[in-house]
Amino acid sequence: MTLPPGFIPFSQVLASGVPAGPARIFAMVNQSGGAGKTTSAVNIAASAAEYGWRTLIVDGDAQCDASVACGYEPDLMDGQPNLHDVLLGVASFENTIVPALAGKYGAKGTVAIENLYISLASAELEDAEQMLATRVGREYWLRGLIESVRGQFDLIIIDCPGNLGLYVVNAIVACDEVIGCVKPGWKELRALTRIELKIEQIQGALVGVKSYLSKVLVVDAPTHRSQGAVYDDSKKSVASAYKDQMLPMVRRSPRIPEAYAAQKALRIFDRAGEATQDYYDVTKALGFARRKR
Ligand SMILES: Nc1ncnc2c1ncn2[C@@H]1O[C@H](COP(=O)(O)OP(=O)(O)OP(=O)(O)O)[C@@H](O)[C@H]1O
Ligand SMILES: [Mg+2]
Repeated sequence: MTLPPGFIPFSQVLASGVPAGPARIFAMVNQSGGAGKTTSAVNIAASAAEYGWRTLIVDGDAQCDASVACGYEPDLMDGQPNLHDVLLGVASFENTIVPALAGKYGAKGTVAIENLYISLASAELEDAEQMLATRVGREYWLRGLIESVRGQFDLIIIDCPGNLGLYVVNAIVACDEVIGCVKPGWKELRALTRIELKIEQIQGALVGVKSYLSKVLVVDAPTHRSQGAVYDDSKKSVASAYKDQMLPMVRRSPRIPEAYAAQKALRIFDRAGEATQDYYDVTKALGFARRKR
């Protein structure tokens, strides 16, 4: 892989000895597709990186959306290891970590985003569930990998696929805190109860799992009253059930899919946008306000 301008290989970050962490580790979870997990993982991570926190996104989804949002097309990156290679045992986790990019890899003018790294996924991760199923310690695989770099980052966000399968169990075991990511609506909010039940089951069945549903993030909140009758009701209900766990909401914005299509974090694509500001607020609420030097 040819290095883009400003590319700082992770090995060099390690060698620089600049201290970070130990990281707080979050998993973005919802068993439904399209709940805003990837959008939130990438944009919280990008905001925290701007605020001076060394941040890693772990893309464990065969759709590779987080990798794409960070400028990469992992299946076209010859010779660049990804998480599937780690599963196969042919690459180390550290070697899957590359700098996140402010634009498409290889395009003119694309540079690396300071402080932001991503562990790349691959479409071949479709097989991850089957491959993990036969392993000894199958629920702890991801924890082992992530713990090996916890001391090199301030914040690690695991972007999960839209199910509660074995990889997501791995993410729940690996993280300190689960963020339940939902779009507004009754059906969507019921997902939170299932996530809590799943975490309870995991804690009951496995040793040493301390993660819990620490935060609820509502994304794609309607910006007009006329769109919002069901939303208003469901918002009240989620806010009363999850009071202190509620993160600031992220408003609906057409700039979000546009930013994804441009393979750019929101703060780079639409710096002054409402949704961009919302993600700054969420990042601060998670405890990653601008770092004092
Ligand atoms: N605040 C928002 N305003 C408008 N569109 C949004 C917003 N948040 C997310 N979206 C759009 O909703 C879709 C789903 O978002 P995203 O990919 O983040 O969900 P996901 O939970 O990661 O889905 P999957 O489970 O398939 O990985 C995307 O097209 C995204 O651009
Ligand atoms: Mg996703």
